[in-house]
Amino acid sequence: MKKDQRRTPLFDAILDFVARAPAPFFIPSHKMGRGIDPRWLDFAGENIFKMDLSEVRGLDDLHRPRGPIAEAQALAADAWGADRSFFLVNGTSAGIIAAICGVVSEGRKIIVPRNAHKSVVFGLIVSGAIPVYVPAEIHAEKGLVGGISRKKLESIYAENADAKGVLAVSPSYHGICGDMRGLIEATHARGGAFIADEAHGNHAYFHEALGPGALALGADCACQSLHKMSGSLTQSSVLHIAGDRMDASRLEANLQMTQSTSPSYLLLASLDLARSRMALHGREILDRLLFLSEAARRELTALPGIEVLGEELIGEAEIAGYDPIRLVISARELGVEGYELYRLLRDDYNIEIEFGDYFHAVCVLGIGTAKEDVDRLILAMKDISRRFGGLRKPLVWDGSLPPAPPMLMTPRAAHFAERVRVPRREAVGRICAQTLAPYPPGIPVICPGEAITEDICDFLDAQIGKGRPLHGLDDGDPDGIAVVKE
Ligand SMILES: Cc1ncc(COP(=O)(O)O)c(C=O)c1O
Repeated sequence: MKKDQRRTPLFDAILDFVARAPAPFFIPSHKMGRGIDPRWLDFAGENIFKMDLSEVRGLDDLHRPRGPIAEAQALAADAWGADRSFFLVNGTSAGIIAAICGVVSEGRKIIVPRNAHKSVVFGLIVSGAIPVYVPAEIHAEKGLVGGISRKKLESIYAENADAKGVLAVSPSYHGICGDMRGLIEATHARGGAFIADEAHGNHAYFHEALGPGALALGADCACQSLHKMSGSLTQSSVLHIAGDRMDASRLEANLQMTQSTSPSYLLLASLDLARSRMALHGREILDRLLFLSEAARRELTALPGIEVLGEELIGEAEIAGYDPIRLVISARELGVEGYELYRLLRDDYNIEIEFGDYFHAVCVLGIGTAKEDVDRLILAMKDISRRFGGLRKPLVWDGSLPPAPPMLMTPRAAHFAERVRVPRREAVGRICAQTLAPYPPGIPVICPGEAITEDICDFLDAQIGKGRPLHGLDDGDPDGIAVVKE
């Protein structure tokens, strides 16, 4: 970091504009808060609405930055060690779609993990790329998606030498980190570009116990949800690029396509401030969080029947690291599913966690986590451990996945083809027009363009029969599946 990270040029420019108190004949229509519902104004205060501005005098233009947005983005690039950074107001999802379209185009190949976020599938649809899916290792005992080894990527590249690049996620929602160094080196050895999905990993750059982040390891692009881990407002993210493998001008054009022409200045200001805070105080903030999470991990793992994921996973299922800040709790020994744990914590203890899956309750700690919150979680888990001790049989993971189906069309061709919904059993042999992903382990069991096999139908029946959440299912027609019309 070389720049003065105390600077917050965009936030300052917004304050200057507000101080000038102009007669507002620009959009948005609430006119700096005057048209906001009084109940909301009363609750939130007027200043927040005064900051809800657009490309007015002195506030630059996200799609052609020359002033404070350009400077704020340059400060972000400096803080994360990138060459250039782009603020995102439609989340990391918008960045991932733009990045995929920056690396690959219609009919070209890109290597992506099978367990990627759905924005990756959207990126494939928009780009028209041919995906080469890499199956991640499964940690069967823990019901977890592991990592992808460098060896596996190299063998996939050997068969797909024309692939233009690789996208990989690290850390995952469950805090699992992959061998990013190995994957980046293997990608570059083949002349490909590497996109890191660091939606959950942007804090890692500010503490040596967490990093290094993908950019420090040579990634060409990193998409980061600062709202998830670095304290900015929901929906605000950053896309960084480094080196010359990404075509910056095409990327900028892609970002114009995936982002609003009316970006929220509240979101942009929050990125400016979150960057400054992390750059200046990230280490001490993360020190405190590491202390809190480690203390909680120790207390929780000492409870009968309770496990918390951690560094002991390293080396298993191609897992190369673990984000110690994430608290992923399992009560499988007590026979309590993660789904139930999620509901118990919410309904009996007023504790809202991120989500539950079959084995795990995923609790996300962040820069605003207070010790009292962690203490409440520990107290609740103590009670749950006592309440359920000796009552049920331990859970056994039964979620082995069916073999990946053959791809008969690109995701784009399947998405844009005429589609019909048919009952699942009648869909065997047809081309799927949608994504269906069961939890756990969160790997899509079928993506658009793939053939629906008997195995897949059996698997879906079993999942639905057990009442397991299936992303992509239509609540109004749970038996139906969207297929390409013949
Ligand atoms: C791994 C991963 N990538 C990308 C995203 C998309 O991020 P955003 O919500 O900022 O659009 C998410 C969101 O949950 C995610 O978990």
